[in-house]
Amino acid sequence: MQKLSILVVDDGQSQREMLRDFLRSEGHTVTEADNGEKALNTVLGGQFDLVLLDYKMPGMDGLEVLKEIKRLNPEIDVVIITAYGTIETAVEALKAGAIDYITKPVELDELIILVNRIAERRQLIQENKLLKEDLNKRGITADKIIYKSQQMAELINLAGRVAASKASVLIQGESGTGKELLARLIHQLSPRANKPIVIVNCVTLHENLLESELFGHEKGAFTGATSRRIGRFEEADGGTIFLDEIGELSPTIQVKLLRFLQEREFQRLGSNVNLQVDVRFISATNRDLEMQVAEGIFRDDLFYRLKVVTMSLPPLRKRKEDLPVLIDFFVDNFAKENRRNIKGFTTEARDLLLKYDYPGNVRELENIIERAIVIAREQYITTNDLPFKSDFLLEASEKKSFSALKESLDELEKKLIIEAMEKTQDNQTKAAEILGISERMLRYKLKKYGLKS
Ligand SMILES: Nc1ncnc2c1ncn2[C@@H]1O[C@H](COP(=O)(O)OP(=O)(O)OP(=O)(O)O)[C@@H](O)[C@H]1O
Ligand SMILES: [Mg+2]
Repeated sequence: MQKLSILVVDDGQSQREMLRDFLRSEGHTVTEADNGEKALNTVLGGQFDLVLLDYKMPGMDGLEVLKEIKRLNPEIDVVIITAYGTIETAVEALKAGAIDYITKPVELDELIILVNRIAERRQLIQENKLLKEDLNKRGITADKIIYKSQQMAELINLAGRVAASKASVLIQGESGTGKELLARLIHQLSPRANKPIVIVNCVTLHENLLESELFGHEKGAFTGATSRRIGRFEEADGGTIFLDEIGELSPTIQVKLLRFLQEREFQRLGSNVNLQVDVRFISATNRDLEMQVAEGIFRDDLFYRLKVVTMSLPPLRKRKEDLPVLIDFFVDNFAKENRRNIKGFTTEARDLLLKYDYPGNVRELENIIERAIVIAREQYITTNDLPFKSDFLLEASEKKSFSALKESLDELEKKLIIEAMEKTQDNQTKAAEILGISERMLRYKLKKYGLKS
């Protein structure tokens, strides 16, 4: 695990030294500051990964220091140390950009889990950055995959690791989640990047045609085969084959594909000469392939050959952190493409976009924004430019912009309650104490969030 450079900011000497000694014993580099001003100077003068920041200090309080650190260097992670029972403080700190918070008295095993998690996350971000730089150096421009969520960061990182090998990759994910984009990224990151990635869509082709499409045919192999045709496998020699919608493959083609994967040999239709090519397989499906195997629609031996590595793209509604960056990206792109001077959204319009569930995932978002950019009358996109159904619109506009904030606060509160309950092994009296609310309020909230068994 990567070791961090940590700044501990606390006006209490004993607590500060305790944290320092502990973190050093874990191998991290630790610097101390006993007030906010000193902390900021230290941040300016050094290179830090993480700041552990006491909330309550004389002079500048933790929140002010936090905001200033984030302004100086948004890449530094800040963890706020708060007293028990101050949900509001924690909420404020998280909203101001703290990555997490920890309560006093600091429990060292809890602290080290938190620090390790942050170290892992930073390493991931760092590795992904290097990956990108490496690509740039090799003159390859990776298709832009925009993300912010941890799930996506992990997938991209995995893509970087599997790219080097020849292992078959199966990409699963709902329609529009970016399966093809991910497949292209894996290809671009691989040593095969300078050879083609050949895309075969298993849906659009008739069975007979698909076979000739994949394996090629000799002149006269069937009626209409007026000349020899090189198949997609041959075209992809040295590169990657991307089999899209693999769940749609007919049983006959499944057998042929399996044979190819086992023997790495095939024949053109109408020929009995064995040909060999060197290709890497990436396949994608928006179906539950495992279910299809269970139902006997998809061969299990083929399934196992295709999914040496499985990558699952989460639907957009399960990674809403990606929404704001995706929205900005598409607005930028389509505004340029259409030469429109669009500055952004009205608050209501942005709220709607953030609240919507996107059954069609990123593709749906992309379409919605393209359309809005084209039809918008003003420099700001309004709710009128969005295609949402009126009931959704009505419900959302009633609650106005407040709704999104309220929702995220509720979520946070729920999280804090779950944590408190876990920490106290479901002792409501103790949990209420930690949370700084009455037991009666806690019972009400447990019920409200459906946490009561
Ligand atoms: N993370 C992302 N960043 C930027 N653009 C994205 C991202 N994910 C998807 N897109 C865009 O959304 C659209 C859909 O992506 P893609 O075609 O890769 O999805 P898919 O999972 O293959 O969809 P389908 O199942 O419908 O074939 C594309 O225009 C793609 O460029
Ligand atoms: Mg696709």
